[in-house]
Amino acid sequence: MKSNPNLMDELISSRHSVRAYLDKPVQKTWIAEILDIAAKAPSGSNLQPWKVYVLEGAYKASLVQKVCALHDDLFLHPKKAGLYQPDYAYYPSVWVSPFLERRRENGWGLYSLLGIAKGEKEKMHQHHRRNFEFFGAPVGLFFTAHRSLEGGSLIDYGMFLQNLMLAAKARGLDTCPQAAWNSFSEVIMSHIGASEEEKLICGMSLGWSDQTQVVNTFMTPRLNAETFTTWLVDEEMT
Ligand SMILES: Cc1cc2nc3c(=O)[nH]c(=O)nc-3n(C[C@H](O)[C@H](O)[C@H](O)COP(=O)(O)O)c2cc1C
Repeated sequence: MKSNPNLMDELISSRHSVRAYLDKPVQKTWIAEILDIAAKAPSGSNLQPWKVYVLEGAYKASLVQKVCALHDDLFLHPKKAGLYQPDYAYYPSVWVSPFLERRRENGWGLYSLLGIAKGEKEKMHQHHRRNFEFFGAPVGLFFTAHRSLEGGSLIDYGMFLQNLMLAAKARGLDTCPQAAWNSFSEVIMSHIGASEEEKLICGMSLGWSDQTQVVNTFMTPRLNAETFTTWLVDEEMT
C-alpha cells in the first residue's frame, strides 16, 4: 500500500467524542461495514474477543427509558448506588496524581463550557443523564466479552473500538465511547439478551454530529510524546 501518513494522521486527529447528534438514521449497511473493518484489529492469539449489540428504534428507546429512570432514582436515593455494579473496574478505586488532575480538568472543562458551576448538582445530573439517551444518537452500541477473558482482551478490545470510531469518522459519522453505562450492566445485559457468560465492556453512541450544539466544540488536550517517552537509543541513531 502507498504511504500516506497525512491521511491517517488527519483521521485520527479529527475524531473526538461527540455528545449531541442529529435525528438522522445511519444506514444498516454502513454499520455492518464499519464493524467488519473494526474487526481487522489485531488480538492476542487472534482471540477476537468482541461481541457487539446494535440498538435502534424501539429497542433503544425502551432501554433509554429504563436506565434514565434508574439514573433519576439514584439521584434522589444515592444510597442505592451499591445496587448497580459494573462487570469490571474501568476506573481506579483510588485516584492518584496526575490522573486525578487530568480527570478534574476534563470534567470541569466540559461543565464550564456548558455553564455548569461547582455545586450545581441538578445540572450535572441532567448532563450525565444524556449518556443514557446515547446523547440523542440514532444508534446505540454495546460491547461485551466472554467472562473468562482477562486484561489482555481489554487491550485487544481497545484496538477494535478505535478502529470502529475511525471507520465511522471516515464516513462522516461520529461516536462517543461510554463507560457510563457499565454500572447498569445487569439491566442492559438482560435487555439486549446477552448470556450470563458475557460481561459488559462499554457502550457507544454512533451518528451524525449536531454541529450547532456547544457541547460538540469541546476539544481535549494531549501531552506530546516527549513528555511520556524515554529514549534509550545510541547517540548516533538520533
Ligand atoms: C472506553 C471509554 C469510555 C468513555 N466513557 C465516557 C462516558 O461514559 N461518557 C462520556 O461523555 N465520555 C466518555 N468517554 C470519552 C472520554 O471522556 C474522551 O475520550 C476523553 O475525554 C478524550 O476526549 P476525545 O474523545 O474528545 O478526544 C469515554 C472514552 C473511552 C475511551
